[in-house]
Amino acid sequence: MGTSHDEGRQGEAYVPLVLNSEGYRKKFYIESYGCAMNFSDSEIVASILNDNGFGATRNFEEADLVLLNTCSIREKAEQTVRSRLHIFRQVKRSRPGMLIGVLGCMAERLKEKFLQEERLVDMVVGPDAYRTLPALIEEAGTGQKAVNVLLSREETYADISPVRLDSNGVAAFVSIMRGCNNMCSFCVVPFTRGRERSRDAVSIVRECQDLFAGGYREVTLLGQNVDSYYWIDESADLVVTFASLLEKVASIDPLLRVRFSTSHPKDITDEVLYTMARHENICRYIHLPVQSGSTRILQLMNRTYTREWYLAKIDRIKTILPGCGLSTDIITGFCSETEEDHQDTLSLMKYARYDMSYMFFYSERPGTLAARRYKDDIPEETKRRRLDEVVKLQNRLSLESNREDIGKTFEILVEGDSKKSAEDWRGRNTQNKVVIFPKADGSYQKGDYVRVKVEDCTGATLIGRALLH
Ligand code: 5AD
Ligand code: SF4
Repeated sequence: MGTSHDEGRQGEAYVPLVLNSEGYRKKFYIESYGCAMNFSDSEIVASILNDNGFGATRNFEEADLVLLNTCSIREKAEQTVRSRLHIFRQVKRSRPGMLIGVLGCMAERLKEKFLQEERLVDMVVGPDAYRTLPALIEEAGTGQKAVNVLLSREETYADISPVRLDSNGVAAFVSIMRGCNNMCSFCVVPFTRGRERSRDAVSIVRECQDLFAGGYREVTLLGQNVDSYYWIDESADLVVTFASLLEKVASIDPLLRVRFSTSHPKDITDEVLYTMARHENICRYIHLPVQSGSTRILQLMNRTYTREWYLAKIDRIKTILPGCGLSTDIITGFCSETEEDHQDTLSLMKYARYDMSYMFFYSERPGTLAARRYKDDIPEETKRRRLDEVVKLQNRLSLESNREDIGKTFEILVEGDSKKSAEDWRGRNTQNKVVIFPKADGSYQKGDYVRVKVEDCTGATLIGRALLH
């Protein structure tokens, strides 16, 4: 399982909130792919590099060190990285001193093979080995190929304070656990990110407090499977579960919004739902990947729930948290999927009435349970056609969901300018829907909460006017 992918961010170059490379001996450039977890790791890498004399640059042509933080979830993600590496290889020809490193899941999956296949790579560093980056850079600097792909049972980078990406200064991601113990048969993550381990709760709360003090108004607690969070506070002889961690973070300040991603349907407990219900600042939004609507396929995927069980979970959410936003992940064309299985997925989507979905066609990943056990037997054409049907249905559901919001008033946390016009503000409501409204409606700034009445919408955005306080 992975945390959601934001397609708009794939390949985003790292830019720190304050780009100040003065006082640094050398420059690094980092590009990130994959899930939010990977973007969060890039912030940890940036912090380690800053401490070791490297300042960030947004121009790879002037970098001494070029890093790609990669994803292996689907073959396409890996192809994108390969083509980027070819571009960097060209630059390296004219700058032989430049070091190129591959980080993250693809580094972990391919290990030394990377050095053989992609001869331009100087360093291969897996997701649990970032503390050794300074030593690896030194090693690579002497012309040796530097590799560290050891996975750890303990590493959580708890003590490293991430250097924030210049997202908006309002919303930040905070990593709370790493790795994944679920063995979904399609998924490469258990192999690339290793066993589950939870980060020290005290350091999580401290990081969130610091963010709030620094003007941030929203944190998203991140993990491959956040509901499995489990940490023993030895000083107080206390067990901290995900529900109790949520409670602690929500109690920092009512003005701090709390989100989380990703939940596995089998692990999200009533206790978590009731904790959300008790705290208005824990956002009414759950990303609950279903993957398929067919019990037979779910079994082959090793998801450990049935269609009926998942639907009962949806009912539970809607009962305990009326008006809660819902999104999901869906895979079409998994091994042996019939037309009937596919129809089950469509009908489940209609029942759940998702506000949003991340939708993919199945891409076999070497080494996974599915690759070893099942034949990838659905023709690509069929996978794509089914995906297309899923996407069309989701577009309809999203539009219907947004239309239902016309006339309603929401509290919006302002995140910055609308992407389309600097005359409008862009923010989100608690259900995670993007809302835009004219700046002329009042004197607001980033990080403010504004009550906005929705007057219009598209499939992706609510459009409204700010109400005077
Ligand atoms: N093929 C297609 N999609 C996949 N995902 C994970 N593995 C694969 C794969 N092999 C999707 C799942 C997961 C999301 C992060 O990516 O839907 O929830
Ligand atoms: Fe994230 Fe790695 Fe999974 Fe990609 S493969 S989604 S980077 S955990």
